[in-house]
Amino acid sequence: MIRAIKGTRDLLPPDTELWNRVEAVARAVFRTYNYGEIRTPVFEETQLFARGVGEETDIVSKEMYTFEDRDGGSLTLRPEATASVVRAYIQHRLWERPGLTRLYYMGPMFRRERPQKGRYRQFYQIGAEAIGSESPLVDAEMLQMLADILEGAGLKQYELRLNSIGDPACRPAYLERLRAELGKVGEQLCGDCRRRAATNPLRVLDCKIPADQPIIERLPRVTDCLCAACREHFETLQAVLRQRGMAYTVVPRMVRGLDYYTRTTFEFVHHGLGAQNAVLGGGRYDGLSEALGGPKAPGIGFSIGADRFVLSLEESGVTPPAVRPDVYMVWLPAGEAPAADPAFRQADEMARLLRAAGLVVELPPEARKIGRALEQAGKLNARYALIIGENELREGRYQLKDLEQREARQLSRQELLEFFENHKDTKAQRHEEGIP
Ligand code: HAM
Repeated sequence: MIRAIKGTRDLLPPDTELWNRVEAVARAVFRTYNYGEIRTPVFEETQLFARGVGEETDIVSKEMYTFEDRDGGSLTLRPEATASVVRAYIQHRLWERPGLTRLYYMGPMFRRERPQKGRYRQFYQIGAEAIGSESPLVDAEMLQMLADILEGAGLKQYELRLNSIGDPACRPAYLERLRAELGKVGEQLCGDCRRRAATNPLRVLDCKIPADQPIIERLPRVTDCLCAACREHFETLQAVLRQRGMAYTVVPRMVRGLDYYTRTTFEFVHHGLGAQNAVLGGGRYDGLSEALGGPKAPGIGFSIGADRFVLSLEESGVTPPAVRPDVYMVWLPAGEAPAADPAFRQADEMARLLRAAGLVVELPPEARKIGRALEQAGKLNARYALIIGENELREGRYQLKDLEQREARQLSRQELLEFFENHKDTKAQRHEEGIP
């Protein structure tokens, strides 16, 4: 048997109903903040990520799906989308359009990580980027937009973790201090930390090994080493959040796994998720456009891990809305070829009318005896069965069986349509839940 590749998975109904709901909520919120959708290719030139995300990061150094194209070029399945969005911003000169560039995206990303709960090799992100301003008010608005999405989808009890990791004016001095300190205590740390101390010392702060924690806690904190401009930026952001009553925790040890970040970084965590508890991550990347050969274009963005978002919704008791047939069409065998069978033709036409009225209709591809047909309608959890047999055809009235209330009505075609107009219960409920 051929199976899906390790770390990838099939998303099936009814789970996909919850995915659709999350995406519908996100799109609706993006719309209200005036974000437009961007769709970038799933593969790009490898050097986009090497330069954008950073050669030394885990993502670029060991997790990318990189392959040689037939003409010898090096291509990579996108491990994230921010580099692609900024490439598109530069390529299409989006700064020439009025106002801030506000873009959102949804789609699959690829990283060859060790699969576990909440961590896959093909996973999905819902993200947004605001490019063209360094104002902390943009950061604050983005965090508000995120809260709207998380709460709109029904997520409760998440925690916003915030940090500022400085900019090219102050980070080198901080890294210097960090290296000096690591020089003194490095020998006591794990092998990974000792390696990182040399290549990418910020990543030491991210170590999860319990024995290392007391030592790491005593290392210099980035938030104590910010330059005046970065400090003011961070304080303004926090003042707006406080004014708004939005809870957050400053976590100076939170460093993110991508090199483009400057100043604000953040994560929203959900404690029901276990080890992989970051539902989303993001931050500022004021130098990314220039690093990719574009103009100065400070930006900030985030990506929600949709797989983890759905998992945390399930942990919070949010279930996929039940989608079931409103009407199961029962057409009784008349012994004719289906295309010529008058019962099938009636059933086919009625199904079209009912669907046009917005109902979910299941029209089975074969005639069945009434008992078998109703049994099948019951298994599919249909609300109503509409019976079309010889009597119905002769009299022009159809039998509508309510499979919940166990009652039946004889209705003409017009009465049937009116009946559903007045009994919008199942349909209306679905629409209220935001399911298109
Ligand atoms: P990231 O932290 O690498 O940031 O990923 C964002 C989110 O994607 C994570 O918090 C997590 O929920 C999800 N995620 C990452 N890797 C996996 C995986 N292997 N399986 C399942 N979910 C995963 C970025 O990607 C940045 N582009 C975010 C950003 C946008 N920064 C600025 N703009």
